[in-house]
Amino acid sequence: MIQIAVMGHGVVGSGVTEILLSHGDEIAKKVQEEIYIKKVLDLREFPDSPIADRFTKSFEDIINDDDIKIVVEVMGGINPAYDFVKRCLQNGKSVVTSNKELVAVKGAELLQIAEDNNLNFLFEASVGGGIPIIRPLNQCLAANTVNEIDGILNGTTNFILTKMIREAMSFEDALKLAQNLGYAERNPAADVEGHDACRKICILASLIFGKHVYPDVVHTEGITKITLKDVEYAEAWGGVIKLIGSVKLTDGKQEIMVAPMFIKNTCQLANVDDVFNAILVKGDSTGEVVFYGKGAGKLPTASAVVADVMDCVNHIEQRRNIYWEDSDNRDILPFEETKYAMYVLVNTDDKEETIAKAEKLFDEIDVIEKPDAGTSELAFVTPVMKYSDFEKAFAQLPDSSIQTVSTIRIAAL
Ligand code: HSE
Repeated sequence: MIQIAVMGHGVVGSGVTEILLSHGDEIAKKVQEEIYIKKVLDLREFPDSPIADRFTKSFEDIINDDDIKIVVEVMGGINPAYDFVKRCLQNGKSVVTSNKELVAVKGAELLQIAEDNNLNFLFEASVGGGIPIIRPLNQCLAANTVNEIDGILNGTTNFILTKMIREAMSFEDALKLAQNLGYAERNPAADVEGHDACRKICILASLIFGKHVYPDVVHTEGITKITLKDVEYAEAWGGVIKLIGSVKLTDGKQEIMVAPMFIKNTCQLANVDDVFNAILVKGDSTGEVVFYGKGAGKLPTASAVVADVMDCVNHIEQRRNIYWEDSDNRDILPFEETKYAMYVLVNTDDKEETIAKAEKLFDEIDVIEKPDAGTSELAFVTPVMKYSDFEKAFAQLPDSSIQTVSTIRIAAL
């Protein structure tokens, strides 16, 4: 029998205990060991839980129990999760976590401590919820050089955008619905401002390049400024708006970013709707591989956590080879130097004059024709250009008869 502890009994934590209790026999057969939840750490009371007697409010009950060999951290956030996880790894306990913030901010350090102590620190659930992606990148695709990953990495924002696109639902109503369904972070700003997706693309980038990419060096935009009008223009252009996390290596520099982007309907990510996530990996031998599934929610995420626990049980005396080193992030390309075509929406008194002005500023533009466009609306797409050049030209666009309304990147997918 292997004894474990679960720290946190929120959406994911309660899913972990539920799966371990409901699938206990099957799991035991697969790993040839019974997995016994000895302690559950949470400050709240859960008198109706079938294992209510195993709850504790004190981390010391876990760290001081030498029989507990694996600790699941599903509390979220950096504090106190970082301190607890570090102490577990320093005290002979492998750790499984779904906490993307912890891995994105402290991953290199925690992986090093795990290696020093010949323990496992696994985090499959931190990216893509129930979608296998960490293990496939680390093992199944290990023979490839992966130089690009693009993904829809946040279920909440994808759910909101899908409701806006398919049902013309307001942003606020869609967010409320996502929160009620248990998809959103405790503070949904992390979802809608793009920080959650940023943490996930950082984890993937760290894994494929073997060097820690810290979230604060990644240009991150959310979806709060996206309007139903932008959604309509994306449709008229032949695509949809998705929040894309993207990393690629060009001339030795990493281009990494999270931003809403227009993607063509023909792109493999375009029909990824609702809470689903999809991660497009470009391997030099495999070509494109897409991982698709539920990126958030109690049981999908808990399934990935429990599978990591099972992997720890299978490798109790032997470390899984997962590692990246710390980095100063000097090889990240400043986002002003990244190159994209841009969608621009303006209000104008004179469309023809505005087109002429935009053509001068951006060299050439493609006007997006929308049959029911208002008489004063003009939307167009610029050529692919360096973001700093775009900003310079864009700053010269408004005048007494032209007001700029929105700009969105066009994904090169
Ligand atoms: N809030 C996250 C999302 C949860 O919506 O994707 C899963 O990481």
